[in-house]
Amino acid sequence: MTCSTATAPAPFILSPSLLSADCGRLADELQSLERTGTTWAHWDVMDEQFGPNITFGQHVIKRLRPASSLFFDVHLMIREPERYLDDFCEAGANMLVVHAEATLHLQRVLARIRQLGMQAGVALNPATPLNVLEYVLDDVDMVLLMSVNPGFGGQSFLPSTYRKLRELRAMLRQRGVTPHIEVDGGVDVGKTPELIAAGANALVCVYGLCSAADRAARFQGCAAAARQGQTITL
Ligand code: DX5
Ligand code: ZN
Repeated sequence: MTCSTATAPAPFILSPSLLSADCGRLADELQSLERTGTTWAHWDVMDEQFGPNITFGQHVIKRLRPASSLFFDVHLMIREPERYLDDFCEAGANMLVVHAEATLHLQRVLARIRQLGMQAGVALNPATPLNVLEYVLDDVDMVLLMSVNPGFGGQSFLPSTYRKLRELRAMLRQRGVTPHIEVDGGVDVGKTPELIAAGANALVCVYGLCSAADRAARFQGCAAAARQGQTITL
């Protein structure tokens, strides 16, 4: 089975997390995100076992799929994600991100995601070393570094993420592969330049940052300036 149409991702990506959206009106929230020019939406799926919280699942995403043309970046913080790959494919996920810590058979899971026609992402918790990626780098379209521990929005960004990002970028360069590098948790406008300088090209941000058009424009401007090595004025 193949499903979902993956739009070509932009070189720099904001992926607003719907964890902070008004869950009573998700269709409106998605449409207002589209109006800001953002092209991705980040779904934080948790099962209370891996991610210590309960959020939304495949049924909610499936119902929302017709309401939006955003690229659905679906971050599975669930135990044994292999049990739900087909469901999230049918729900319309474009990128399916699984945690390396949540499955015994990471390579098989990533290969199956691609076989289903989705892009495959692998996520690492803050304490997980980069070497778990060593033999799956050819199987991924994105590496997601958690800059907080899974569970909740609004946690403080862990500064150890910067060093991990630099090391990841060096690892990818050495291997000659170019997956997206996404950072998730506690990201705000002020951290954007340093995160980009350290190697990130996709940032999960709180929905509130992108809900107003001027905020989104500011964020994008910040990213553009950072890429050109300019001083950032927020
Ligand atoms: C943690 C979540 C958060 C969230 C982003 O499980 O994955 O990282 O999406 O929200 P903030 O930026 O508030 O941490
Ligand atoms: Zn996430």
